Amino acid sequence: MIWLYYSDEIIEDVRSRNDIVDVIGSYVNLKHKGNSYSACCPFHHEKTPSFHVSREKQMYHCFGCGVGGNVYTFIMEHENMTFPEAVEVLAERAGITLPEKNMTGDEKKRADERTKIKDMNKLAAGYFHYLLKTDHGKTALAYLKKRGLTDETITNFGLGYSDKYSDDLYKYLRSKGYSDDEMVKAGLIRIDEKHGPSDRFWNRVMYPIVDPNNRVIGFGGRVMGDGTPKYINSQDTPVFDKSRNLYGLNLAKKSKRKGIIFCEGYMDVISMHQAGFDNAVASLGTALTVGQVNLIKRYTDRVYLAYDSDEAGTKAAIRALSIMREFEMPARVISLKPYKDPDELIQAEGTTEFEKRIDEAKSGVMFEIEILEHNYNQNDPQERTEFQKEAAKCLARILDPLERDNYIEAVSGRYGIDKKILKETVTAYGISAENMIDKSVFREQVRRTTPEEEKEKQHLKSERVLITWLINDNMLIPAVKEHLEPSDFGDHLYADVLNSVYEQYDSSGKVEPAVIMNHYQSKEEHDKVSSIMQQDFGVEVDADEKQQVVTDLIRRIKRKSIQRKIEEAGSDFELIKQLMQQKKSIERIQIRI
Ligand code: CTP
Ligand code: MN
Repeated sequence: MIWLYYSDEIIEDVRSRNDIVDVIGSYVNLKHKGNSYSACCPFHHEKTPSFHVSREKQMYHCFGCGVGGNVYTFIMEHENMTFPEAVEVLAERAGITLPEKNMTGDEKKRADERTKIKDMNKLAAGYFHYLLKTDHGKTALAYLKKRGLTDETITNFGLGYSDKYSDDLYKYLRSKGYSDDEMVKAGLIRIDEKHGPSDRFWNRVMYPIVDPNNRVIGFGGRVMGDGTPKYINSQDTPVFDKSRNLYGLNLAKKSKRKGIIFCEGYMDVISMHQAGFDNAVASLGTALTVGQVNLIKRYTDRVYLAYDSDEAGTKAAIRALSIMREFEMPARVISLKPYKDPDELIQAEGTTEFEKRIDEAKSGVMFEIEILEHNYNQNDPQERTEFQKEAAKCLARILDPLERDNYIEAVSGRYGIDKKILKETVTAYGISAENMIDKSVFREQVRRTTPEEEKEKQHLKSERVLITWLINDNMLIPAVKEHLEPSDFGDHLYADVLNSVYEQYDSSGKVEPAVIMNHYQSKEEHDKVSSIMQQDFGVEVDADEKQQVVTDLIRRIKRKSIQRKIEEAGSDFELIKQLMQQKKSIERIQIRI
């Protein structure tokens, strides 16, 4: 496989100068165990770590969901990047200057498109910010000042103003050489058959949305005053995915404060940062998503919800808590009452009060039970029983037994429920609660194998296991090579890997799995190849046993291979006779190491 952008040498140079443990370790919390590093998989939800990284092999693999690859695969998957982008990021990390890309075709087009959109966004953000400081932006600036924002905050968030002429940005970007088409793709311009091009945002206060790598990926624009719609947001583009980004994360990720505070609005984030709570973030005009919780897991292990105190905000908080629970992210809820949102509270009461509210934040479970309380008439015995049962169900979802017991105690005290009875009820619900989690939609995101795949797997197991042996113990390669050719393998990808293993061994006397990974392009190939390379048998075997196991594998693969050839031979009896002969000699194969 030839990469269209960079030469194989450069790709390998960049890869080898980015140690996989260091790179992955900067995203997930790796635990050192023996010669491997493990963590809970960042690509699927799990409770026990099945994500493994090997420094020796420079590969990672998750035995839970089957993803895996080398350092490039990780960056591509984790940062949602294309291969050339991953090369660029890692080259920069290692201080390597890349030569000019030699790109052609579709991929070049797509890479160019993304770069162009980012450039246009950056220009637009700069332009909006500039306008805010000019005569045109007077009203907008006054509006922001009236809302209590300082010049420093305005600069920090790069706030701006989109002019009241509906083709102002269009003309500006035009003057910078961008085409109508490009501006439409960036989501900045709309084209109407009758009226021609017009800006998506005009006469609004502009909030640029910046990703954790400090790139402007989109905008939110607010009317000044009471007009509708209150906000207009960028649509999703090749660089902007609302469900995988958070407003303010570029700043919050640098915060020294504990945890991350989720709130609902752009204005809340800005107001909190100004008050010193620079760990606040917000969704981008949608409810909280699984992708956002996944994203936040990289930065913190504790979350606060500071959602609006109205009914909609409470509903959103309950929903957010259920996602947090699925990801085992401890979440606390900050009460803002009697104020509507964090911005109002801070404007009215100031920093100290907000700090106090954070300290007093309730755990998610207690918050949910309190909400439940109001749904039942506590003076009616039947309704009160219903409430208690629902509360017990909430408690049953706490998996840690000690924590659960503490909450049972708290709830029993607060609502005057006999602790023993409450505990029994919780235990009774415990089993069904576990089931519920297993069936939850989030689990669906984890890839399951189908029965066909299972059968196929059995069939190819010998090939896979043999490669694993060869990779773990390169000394076996010459002995195996004597008996097996890549074409003996039934699986094309495994055959290809075996071929690379032989080639590498012949040329350098050893095999580097991560180099072999460079040959593959698709996520499917990376997952499949990494799964064989990262396999660890977890048992120590002596030389005799090893000889026996590997001999047995060779015989099995050879038998299958000859069987296949016989089936393909049709009525070529001469060939069949030969193959039958070969088949008999299989039993005489015995490797010595
Ligand atoms: N939102 C939106 N479109 C709307 C209303 C709201 O996308 N028409 C999103 C925005 O991301 C907004 C968030 O929902 O920030 C919360 O809405 P709201 O509380 O109404 O706005 P605030 O950010 O609090 O703005 P302000 O304080 O200026 O009213
Ligand atoms: Mn609000």
